[in-house]
Amino acid sequence: MIALGCDHTGYELKQQVREHLESMGYECKDYGCGQCTASDYPIYGEAVGRAVASGECELGVLICGTGVGISLCANKVKGVRAVVCSEPYSAKLARMHNNANIVAFGARVVGRDLALMIVDAFFGAKFEGGRHQRRVDMMESIQP
Ligand code: RB5
Repeated sequence: MIALGCDHTGYELKQQVREHLESMGYECKDYGCGQCTASDYPIYGEAVGRAVASGECELGVLICGTGVGISLCANKVKGVRAVVCSEPYSAKLARMHNNANIVAFGARVVGRDLALMIVDAFFGAKFEGGRHQRRVDMMESIQP
């Protein structure tokens, strides 16, 4: 199950991402927001972060204007590694090396086609483990 979330800036792109993921066979769960003129990204960043950290969803996608605010909020939840990506290479490496579990992007930064390329790169990659596991463990052990 893939967790999806956005604020008002990302609603349309979220629908397109959902359609794309479902066409590839992924099941998606939408944590909001619905179509609206204004909403607060922390609500949706936290909701998707908790869904992924609890194991309810395996991975997540978050969208706000830049991807920044909503990913910062998701990263407040322990166990979340949310990354903002504006191109596919970072999205792929974020999975392979950092075991990122949420990808975020900005609806005011990337267009539909680039967003779907980022999604493909993220979901098409696998965590490599090994020396990267040690580094992810070190990251997880950093105390706030
Ligand atoms: C909303 O205007 C905007 O601040 C929000 O979508 C996001 O970009 C925050 O990081």
